[in-house]
Amino acid sequence: MTVAETFRHLHHFVPATDPSRPPLLLLHGTGGDENDLLPLGRALAPGSALLAPRGNVLEGGAPRFFRRLREGVFDEDDVRRRAHDLADFVAEARDAYGLQKPVALGFSNGANIAAAVLLLRPEALAGAALLRPMSPLAAAPAADLSGTPVLMLSGAFDPIVPGDDVGRLAGTLRAAGAEVDHRTLPAGHGLSQADIAATTEWLARF
Ligand code: MLT
Repeated sequence: MTVAETFRHLHHFVPATDPSRPPLLLLHGTGGDENDLLPLGRALAPGSALLAPRGNVLEGGAPRFFRRLREGVFDEDDVRRRAHDLADFVAEARDAYGLQKPVALGFSNGANIAAAVLLLRPEALAGAALLRPMSPLAAAPAADLSGTPVLMLSGAFDPIVPGDDVGRLAGTLRAAGAEVDHRTLPAGHGLSQADIAATTEWLARF
């Protein structure tokens, strides 16, 4: 495993053991870091290369991928800037490590920045599994995501994500041409066994 600090994101890189599998871009939730999702990535996508950056924003010491004004209210200028920064990091890492386009696997704040990258830099990702996402931008730009697979997993009892907000995100991604599979699981904001099963099955399509 490589721990690299010379890129625009401190990150872990784990090389593929099966190069036919797509790399996974692992994006942690608020307060997580580059270590958090490695075990999940290994379990969900055996053989894939894993690229796990740490978010560059600190909120009271907790790493995140963009600034927010309060829970659920985002600094959208910062969302845009950080989404471009993350897409540039992906391009830089693909060059350095010789990677195909990655599939993003993001949880919570990591899902939200992945959704912003899909909308602002649709060329950066081969697809995305968004676990407990919300809309990162009130007015989404017109993106071309034709044929890009997107899995969205919401929790029926999630106290953080309003159902109408996540429905709007699914609609925006579908309108951009993405193949959206949006499921609501009997769970809260935390991940459940059902998330693991659904994501494993969905990733097998790549
Ligand atoms: C966010 O700020 O991206 C969402 O509210 C999810 C989270 O709590 O991180």
